[in-house]
Amino acid sequence: MADKGVLDMFRLDGKVAIVTGASSGLGVVFAQALAQAGADVALGARREDRLVATREAVEAAGRRAITVRTDVARPEDCQALVEATMAEFGRVDVLVNNAGVGTAVPATRETPEQFRSVIDVNLNGCYWMAQACARVMQPGSSIVNISSILGLTTAGLPQAAYAASKAGLIGLTRDLAQQWTGRKGIRVNALAPGFFDSEMTDQYPEGYIAQQLGRVLVGRPGDPMELAAALVFLVSAAGGYVTGTTLPVEGGLLTS
Ligand SMILES: NC(=O)c1ccc[n+]([C@@H]2O[C@H](COP(=O)([O-])OP(=O)(O)OC[C@H]3O[C@@H](n4cnc5c(N)ncnc54)[C@H](OP(=O)(O)O)[C@@H]3O)[C@@H](O)[C@H]2O)c1
Repeated sequence: MADKGVLDMFRLDGKVAIVTGASSGLGVVFAQALAQAGADVALGARREDRLVATREAVEAAGRRAITVRTDVARPEDCQALVEATMAEFGRVDVLVNNAGVGTAVPATRETPEQFRSVIDVNLNGCYWMAQACARVMQPGSSIVNISSILGLTTAGLPQAAYAASKAGLIGLTRDLAQQWTGRKGIRVNALAPGFFDSEMTDQYPEGYIAQQLGRVLVGRPGDPMELAAALVFLVSAAGGYVTGTTLPVEGGLLTS
């Protein structure tokens, strides 16, 4: 490794990545960043029309992409996304479990259907994707689950389902790392983002982000490319000795 320059350790040339939730927000930036680092990308989400724009962004970075309509709450859709990726590219090196829904419902009013639907996408969907990928991934592969600071702390809104799903994802990450890193050579990590602009954060109540920024040491929301850079670190050779962990990228919010 010493013969490689340190920046070369972040390259993903010849690798193939799957990004779920690639139709808006952070997933689009993740797909672009992985392509800029050298990877071809398979893009999954329910809104296939919006995936086309992400595919064009990947192609603009000089890499190939496929789009597959995917509802990650359906195990058969997750299997089909992995099969389509294998059919097109012949390998899966990276999985970014990014698809997620954000909700805020007072606990005494939340219905079983509302609670279950969040867990089904944010937690169960990541497991179906990880299972399908781990069956085909070769040693040296890597999975990153997009958790949240809500998996580690609270942030003033009634988000039991979301917080439970994101905390569950941290446990899932730890367990899959201990099952697969030694036996299959697949590293499994999580990112815990703080506040980044996206369609999800557009739904926050007026003034909410400004109020929460008081807890953020860096004093501003994150730039999605700052999160994508952490992702590229985790999935590349640069992160080769990191597994089973959750990396907060939150401007220091967790110090409060
Ligand atoms: N933005 C932040 O500040 C922040 C902070 C912490 C964590 N996160 C996490 O980051 C991830 C991305 O969020 P974002 O902020 O970029 O929000 P976003 O713009 O709302 O994007 C969410 C993505 O998830 C997809 N998705 C939702 N349900 C799905 C399903 N059943 N099957 C497949 N895809 C589904 C959506 O696509 P379709 O609707 O087309 O299916 C969309 O592409 C989420 O896991 C979120 O919890 C975000």
